[in-house]
Amino acid sequence: MPKLLTRARRLARDLGVRYGVLPYKRQWVLSPEDWDREYASGKLGFYGSFRERGRYGVLHAYLTARTEPVRLLDVGCGVGLLLDRLAGVPIAEYVGIDPSAKAIEAARTDRGTAGSFHVAHLPDPALGKFDVIVCNEVLYYIEDLPAALAKLHAALNEGGWLLTSVLRHPGDIALHRAVAAEFDIVDSVLVKRQTPPMTGWTVSCYAARAKSAI
Ligand SMILES: C[S@@+](CC[C@H](N)C(=O)[O-])C[C@H]1O[C@@H](n2cnc3c(N)ncnc32)[C@H](O)[C@@H]1O
Repeated sequence: MPKLLTRARRLARDLGVRYGVLPYKRQWVLSPEDWDREYASGKLGFYGSFRERGRYGVLHAYLTARTEPVRLLDVGCGVGLLLDRLAGVPIAEYVGIDPSAKAIEAARTDRGTAGSFHVAHLPDPALGKFDVIVCNEVLYYIEDLPAALAKLHAALNEGGWLLTSVLRHPGDIALHRAVAAEFDIVDSVLVKRQTPPMTGWTVSCYAARAKSAI
C-alpha cells in the first residue's frame, strides 16, 4: 500500500510538472566527468542505433528546407552523429560543441575534418554566428535554461533557426514553453515509436525573433 501511495504521489507530481502547475526541474543532473564515463563505457552507442533514427529524420527534413548553405552549430553534439546524417542538407560549415572531452575526442577521430569540434557547454562568441543551431536531446540537461537560450539566441543570425529534439518526460511542456518565450515557434511534431521501448520525442523548429521584436 505505501508503495502504491508513493507511485501515486510521483505520478501526480510528474503530471503537475508536465502541465506546468509545478516548476520544471531537471530530471537528470550529469557533470562533464559523468558524461566522459558514460561515453568511455560504450553505453551510449545506442544514440547511433536504428531506433534513434526517427528524431534525426525530422531534423533532417527541417534542415533540407533551408535554401542557402548554412553555418550549423550542434550543441551537445556528443560524438558528432548528426554530421553523418546531413546528406542533402545545404551546409557551409558544421561546428559541434559538447562539455564531454571524451565525446569530442571521439568526434574528432571518427568524423575527420568534415566539421570542427570544441569542448564547451555553450558557444563562445569567438565561434561567430550561425544560421541554424541544433539542440538534439540536450536541453533537459542544462541547468539555467533561460540564460542558455538567451546565449543561443545571441549566436543566431537574423532569419536563423533553432531546431530541438526533446525526449518526452515530465516537464517537457514547461521546457517547450521556456523555449517559446525566447524564440518564435515555426513547427513542432511528435515522433512516437510504436515498438518497445515506446519512446517519443518532440522535434521542433523555432525562428530567431526579429531584432526589433526583442
Ligand atoms: C543525450 S546526449 C545527445 C548527444 C547527441 N546530440 C545525440 O543526439 O546523439 C546529450 C549530450 O549533451 C551533452 N551535454 C550535457 N549537458 C550539457 C550542457 N549543459 N550543455 C551542452 N551540452 C551538454 C552531453 O555531454 C551529451 O553529449
